[in-house]
Amino acid sequence: MRTKAKTANQTIISIVIGTISVIVSLILVIANLLSKSWSTMSMISVGGYVLLLLGLLFTYIVMFHRELIESKNKSLLFVTVYIIVLVLMVFMADSVPFYLIPIPIAGMLIAVLIDIKLGIIMNLVLSIIGCLIMTLNIEFALFYIISGSFSCLLITKAKQRQNMIYIALYLIGINVLTVLVYNLYYAKTLLYLDFLYAGISAVIAVIITIGSLPLWETIFDVVTPLKLLELSNSNQKLLKRLLLEAPGSYHHSQMVANLAETAAIDIGADALLTRTGALYHDIGKLRNPGYFVENQNGENPHDDIAPEASANIIINHVKDGVKIATEYRLPKSIINIIREHHGDALVQYFYYKAKQQSEGEVDEQDFRYAGPKPQSNEAAIVMLADCVEAYVRSLPEKDRTLDRIEQIVTEMIESRLDEGQLDECDLKIKELKGLKTSFIKVYKGLYHERIQYPGNTVDGDENDDH
Ligand SMILES: [Fe+2]
Ligand SMILES: [Fe+2]
Repeated sequence: MRTKAKTANQTIISIVIGTISVIVSLILVIANLLSKSWSTMSMISVGGYVLLLLGLLFTYIVMFHRELIESKNKSLLFVTVYIIVLVLMVFMADSVPFYLIPIPIAGMLIAVLIDIKLGIIMNLVLSIIGCLIMTLNIEFALFYIISGSFSCLLITKAKQRQNMIYIALYLIGINVLTVLVYNLYYAKTLLYLDFLYAGISAVIAVIITIGSLPLWETIFDVVTPLKLLELSNSNQKLLKRLLLEAPGSYHHSQMVANLAETAAIDIGADALLTRTGALYHDIGKLRNPGYFVENQNGENPHDDIAPEASANIIINHVKDGVKIATEYRLPKSIINIIREHHGDALVQYFYYKAKQQSEGEVDEQDFRYAGPKPQSNEAAIVMLADCVEAYVRSLPEKDRTLDRIEQIVTEMIESRLDEGQLDECDLKIKELKGLKTSFIKVYKGLYHERIQYPGNTVDGDENDDH
């Protein structure tokens, strides 16, 4: 549904970035070989290998990670990591014990920031290029293929930054073992200094990777699962504030997060980003919590003000959300979800109230959210989960039957589609059907539990953003 022009531009930029990186790789490798006076034929041979390896990387990206080509930021991130580690490798290869070259950081960073399999392939390519530069040093290749691959696998399993110490210890073990088995193969005398270097290498790789993550996140505007997991923890300051100052909005956001996360998993969107975005989507309600129905206890301050003023307060929760999220340094991808979660929809309740009360014309534009419409599938999922949850919550409890919920889910999705709110994301009709099934599945689970435990009640606060 999105215009193709933007994607085409990004693709061209990515191809230019990719071509530059291939040229830089060849220059770096050939410069290293020239300094060691290699023969022309040998240099052509190594250059050919480098091209073949980069061809492998490129083919893999085209087949499985097109989003990398279609995103200027991601391709720039990928190439920057690759070039930095290649430069380090070329300059350190002949001057320090090779164990100390921090090759695994390339794979680890890519694994955390983009994708684990891509990280493993990046590590493989760099390890083989290093092996070629070092006169086919097979020990170099074995060490870095094994150590780097383990690093990629382990780093993505880190749920919190505190886990890093265990990952570093595990990697020290892997590196030391790799050196040991290689030395046994050649029945060499064990060089204890090699073990020390291999251990240090693991620690350096983990420290550099984790220490530099915030920098990569900021410069390239990407967010790591690690950061999202931290943000979705209910101990986060901002979520705690929401719980204390706007408890109704907090519970609503939790339910939206459950709906949106399940739907994102089912249709293959980024579930962690969707969940975290949903948890923070209404953070702007912290400014005027009492004006939102889910936080009201009988009294409704909207009764005393004009519908235009009411609509203004409601609409501003998006702007306030963006402001608060920026103050709390939330990642841009979360801020985008906050900004887009109502698109440019009409605040219908107050628009019709104003029309009823007014004798003159009522400008519809004054009752619309500022937009933009959801630009990503994750933002669109949060938008749909939000309106479904708000509607279901506004029903008297006796009316919250599965049949009625199914009807609401269908109506909400269709109305957002008809209004054009989903025009700028990439959700397809098939995925919208998947979303519907997922939302209903969550409610079925919820009601099933309620039947088993009759003491339970659905969170009592109504919520429809007014
Ligand atoms: Fe909202
Ligand atoms: Fe909401």
